Amino acid sequence: MNKHRLVIANLKMNGSRKSVRAISQFIIQNKSRLSSVDLVFCPSDIYLERCIEDFKGIDAIQVGAQDLWSDNLFGGTGDTSAEMLVDLGVSYVIIGHSERRKVHQENDQLITKKLESAVARGLIPILCIGETQEERIKGDTLKVLARQLRGLLNITESVASKLVIAYEPVWAVGSSKCAPLNEVNSVIQFIKAQFRQSSKEINVVYGGSVSETNLIQLMSLQALNGVIVGRASLSGHRLVEICRLTSGVENNGNHAGDVRAMMSVV
Ligand code: PGA
Repeated sequence: MNKHRLVIANLKMNGSRKSVRAISQFIIQNKSRLSSVDLVFCPSDIYLERCIEDFKGIDAIQVGAQDLWSDNLFGGTGDTSAEMLVDLGVSYVIIGHSERRKVHQENDQLITKKLESAVARGLIPILCIGETQEERIKGDTLKVLARQLRGLLNITESVASKLVIAYEPVWAVGSSKCAPLNEVNSVIQFIKAQFRQSSKEINVVYGGSVSETNLIQLMSLQALNGVIVGRASLSGHRLVEICRLTSGVENNGNHAGDVRAMMSVV
């Protein structure tokens, strides 16, 4: 398990050279606030190299890509391979985000191939899984998650110890609704239990409308290893505040008792 909790900033297809730089500079100026958190900064591919340069030498910050194309798939025009990401100095890669599953029609088979490529090249995959609102209403959440996790069950212990599973309910991503705490908690327990049978410890983060206001409640879940943040990562100020709140909980642990009873974050 990671020593520190993770904050994964997923900037998606946002920003410009100037605005991404402004975020990275703000983070660098405030890096002392990241002392108990690991930040994984994931800009669009075209800003990766610049960010890697900017964050060089800061142990608490790693740079991640938002996707890759698998070496063992035909095609590649317009895509980026795991090998290229490693060549740049990228450490993490988001795989299977719900926007890619939906808009680019990525299925579990393709996602498994991408995972294999990432692992083979030594990248740390952040695998996004999550149910749609329809699946949630039907009571199929755990069934859907089990299917999305199937490609991972044979991974080795050493890969498992680095891998990050991002539980991102599709209906919570890009909405203003964070999933209720009790739902997040049962999903984390479910995911961890899938791997525990083979003694693999997996890092699980939550994503979907994470903000400064719901973060402390989320962090009261002891089994949660961090968060993945979309819109709130487009402001250096907000991102640093999210890192501060995340690490603050780890340092003194005293938020947990106050909010454990509040089982709905919506
Ligand atoms: P959001 O996005 O925080 O804007 O909901 C999260 C994500 O898509 O990873």
